[in-house]
Amino acid sequence: MTEILHESEMEERVPVRKILHMGAPSLLQVSEEIQEFNTPELDNLVKDMLDTMSAMNGAGLAAPQIGVNKRVVIFGLEKNPRYPDVEPVPMTILINPIIERLDDQMEDGWEGCLSIPGMRGVVPRYRNIRYRGFDQNGNPIDRKATGFHARVVQHECDHLDGILYPERIRDMKLFGFESELGNSGVPEE
Ligand code: NI
Repeated sequence: MTEILHESEMEERVPVRKILHMGAPSLLQVSEEIQEFNTPELDNLVKDMLDTMSAMNGAGLAAPQIGVNKRVVIFGLEKNPRYPDVEPVPMTILINPIIERLDDQMEDGWEGCLSIPGMRGVVPRYRNIRYRGFDQNGNPIDRKATGFHARVVQHECDHLDGILYPERIRDMKLFGFESELGNSGVPEE
């Protein structure tokens, strides 16, 4: 007997917005700042990004990944048994972000990207950063972050400048398919 899925069940498996993959021109562009908060356009963009990230089980998403070249990123990760080595990151909507490094210390770590599905690479990032920006209502955000939290922010903000993580890999031998690498796994962003 064939199991018939209801339409609503099928829709649940589909990301709300299509995620662009490496090679798409939008991913290489420098995105524009948001000029106005509390607009239906921005609210809909943020909602679509949240739904899309959650449908894809991502730890982060930048607007260019759904084809919108605006300086909007979202990120967040709850403690997840799938990623035992990854510290939780507060769920954040960050608009017009600015990153400052707090010292010169860099750290290598595995990254994955929803725009490069199934692959992982070791990327050097600043360990300690301060980041500033605004939430979707225009309230200022000013935080210090370290480790994985700092990594996610740097990865997402790179998307706003048209940079994908393979560009930052120093040793291309540490880049490949997650299925072949056999590492414990890191979420895609
Ligand atoms: Ni990414």
